[in-house]
Amino acid sequence: MNYIRLDKFIADNSGLSRSQVKDAVKNGLVKSNGIITKQTDLKINPDSDIIELDGKNITYRKNRYILLNKPAGYVCSTSDPVSPTVLDLLPPELSKKVFPAGRLDKDSEGMVLLTNDGELAHRILTPEKHVPKFYIVKLAEEFKIQYIDLFANGMSLSNGEVCLPARVFPLENDDLWAIVELREGKFHQVKRMFATAGNEVEYLFRFCIGNLQIPEKLAIGDFMELMHKDVERLLQPPDYDDILRNLYVYFSSYLINK
Ligand code: URA
Repeated sequence: MNYIRLDKFIADNSGLSRSQVKDAVKNGLVKSNGIITKQTDLKINPDSDIIELDGKNITYRKNRYILLNKPAGYVCSTSDPVSPTVLDLLPPELSKKVFPAGRLDKDSEGMVLLTNDGELAHRILTPEKHVPKFYIVKLAEEFKIQYIDLFANGMSLSNGEVCLPARVFPLENDDLWAIVELREGKFHQVKRMFATAGNEVEYLFRFCIGNLQIPEKLAIGDFMELMHKDVERLLQPPDYDDILRNLYVYFSSYLINK
């Protein structure tokens, strides 16, 4: 059985800081199984004990899911000898709990999921599950219509690796921007696919995983905690019309000057 301290349980599941929790306990606002407790280090069983704060039950959030809109310059790793990591963008009480589920390159931006749910991370990342990921890229040279078939036919990369069929199409009224949908995540895959096609990716932004998109209000560098219904969207089939519509909105708000 996993017992944890009462003050830690409340801080982790309420959004209050440890010192706010201590005050609440001292002031008699916390009940454990219906009885007021003033013992902050009381060991509780989060699966079965009922903890109330100011008359409201605290729900145990075993798994945490953070959606980060990653800025360039951060690596998707839990530690790095030279560069800041995506965990440095989270407050310490969250960054200690989660790891990045999947990678974006240091110079890439956009959606990164951070979680402590290893099973969900595996489901999103394993190519067998075919969870789609949508990227918007800026190319060095103008988009060529031949890319569509090249990507769709399962491209062979320069080292012999073969990609699953992927979708690519240009952004309306723009020669340099394109949208890519992949159902796997090889190292530098989008950049390598365009390199194989004779072009170069100058900028890459991940907009969507499954059917979960970056909300317009989430600016680059910001993060939000996902609730259950959002987490479910990660595994739902994409709503293409909605994704495209919002991608254009996001593009005109944040990406147009990249
Ligand atoms: N493909 C890339 O080349 N880079 C990324 O960051 C993500 C996908």
